[in-house]
Amino acid sequence: MYPKEFEKSIRKVEETRQERLKKPPERLGEKEKEELLKKWHPDYKPEAKRKLRVGVSKGSIVPNEVADIIEAYPLINPDEIDLSQIDYETDILIIGGGGAGTAAALFAYYNGISPENIIIATKLRHGDSNTIMAQGGIQAADKENDSPVIHYLDVIGGGHFANKPELVARLVLDAPLIIKWHEELGVMYDKKEDGEMITIHGGGTSRKRMHSAKDYTGMEIMRVLRDEARNIGIEVLEFSPAIDLLIDDEGKVGGALLYNLETDQYYVVKAKAVILATGGFGRLHIQGFPTTNHYGATADGLVMAYRVGAKLRDMDSVQYHPTGVAYPEQIVGLLVTEKVRGLGAQPVNVEGEQFVHPLEPRDVEAAAIIRECYGRNKGVITPTGMRGIWLDSPMIEIIHGKGTIERRLGAMFRMFKRFDIDMRYEPILVFPTLHYQNGGIEINENAQVLGINGIIKGLFAAGEVEGGVHGKNRLMGNSLLDTQVFGRIAGINAAKYSRKAKVGKLSLEHVKKYVEELKKAGIKEERKAPILLPDYREKKVLSRAIDIL
Ligand code: FUM
Repeated sequence: MYPKEFEKSIRKVEETRQERLKKPPERLGEKEKEELLKKWHPDYKPEAKRKLRVGVSKGSIVPNEVADIIEAYPLINPDEIDLSQIDYETDILIIGGGGAGTAAALFAYYNGISPENIIIATKLRHGDSNTIMAQGGIQAADKENDSPVIHYLDVIGGGHFANKPELVARLVLDAPLIIKWHEELGVMYDKKEDGEMITIHGGGTSRKRMHSAKDYTGMEIMRVLRDEARNIGIEVLEFSPAIDLLIDDEGKVGGALLYNLETDQYYVVKAKAVILATGGFGRLHIQGFPTTNHYGATADGLVMAYRVGAKLRDMDSVQYHPTGVAYPEQIVGLLVTEKVRGLGAQPVNVEGEQFVHPLEPRDVEAAAIIRECYGRNKGVITPTGMRGIWLDSPMIEIIHGKGTIERRLGAMFRMFKRFDIDMRYEPILVFPTLHYQNGGIEINENAQVLGINGIIKGLFAAGEVEGGVHGKNRLMGNSLLDTQVFGRIAGINAAKYSRKAKVGKLSLEHVKKYVEELKKAGIKEERKAPILLPDYREKKVLSRAIDIL
């Protein structure tokens, strides 16, 4: 139920609705977009970032919160770890049990690795990841009016032309085969009565190519992938995050040190190939923003890979999803899927005026909402001092007919209904929320991780942990796709690599060297990483006062 003070503004939204339905909103020109981003997108706040002082990407600019964990000391003292006792030995160790990790495991198996020689090590339970939180859909150009070329142009344009072209090519070319594979496994995508897939637009797409399973697409994909992995018999170590990678005497990656969250013990895993599928940094609450992300999204993969010499790229850009919940307080920051706008809900201010096209690319849409709230003072102020704008959700049923919200946005509908807000009849209040790590560890088109001297042997990466696919701004529906396309590629190539690989004597020499570098740079031993789980005892995270200006 909304507080009484919202009523006047809600009436204004209702009064302007018919007029707004008649007049389609205009898109911003390139120059306007650029100005808007520079002035209002949080990425353009220089004091929110700093240069890395150590490692192979020393000098590159990253958010302060990321620099804090990259410039942190290991959780273990390398001299105290006994690597002569191997707890698990395997062909392929996959770190991360979400969509990318599970797809990698399946494709390693399809490519000849027996299930006993694949291990998925995951921080929480198998599947408990950002993948299951993905709502709106997965892009694939598989209809007659579309093509991977058009998809490619959308991705590159959305990413501000900073993307690595060969990775984008793999993303878009492999997309249709991923949907086909999902269908064969039993993923239940939304379809018309004649069996044709229902596809809609996302922000920045020039064709309707978003495939979805209502508004729990990631959950549905993960359900099916996890079942498949379980049926095949792939071993899963739950509550066992990795805390550092291991190298052998030739400098190849040859396993990882796992930490058992339940028993506080560490395990040594020797592996011919390691696939990092640890997801992104959404739980670092960059610039104090609330987040859509899963608890495990603490950038562990970045930290571990950086210590073995992986290059980072595009880490200066962060994705704030335009529409996180701004009210009620209990669910602030949770995702209001872009599909709500894709189905026609318009963003409107406290006066009921529409101020931006609903489907601009995410960074532009988020910047426009921040400007409306803080620059033009036309946001709705909540009882806890947060600001937000309305998403006029009742428009969806006017455009598509009664029942659409429950049918196609069931998760959204229930999320608000628990708080007595009925989005079929009342608009919902939103504000940008931290959503995605646009950049990450640099990979090549075979999902091999790159250092300054080329490939880091034995190490592969897939999903949000890697960078280059999305440039400086990812489009909706390309993250689920990234997990599947690069999970598949990593699984295939790790299988190929592991057939020939031999692992020598394991060590943590790289960690020792990294510690020396930290000391040389004068970085005090105050912080340790990976942090594994966010610390909500910190006051700044509990506060709703976002430092926008
Ligand atoms: O809005 C959404 O449903 C989010 C999708 C995505 O980030 O790809």
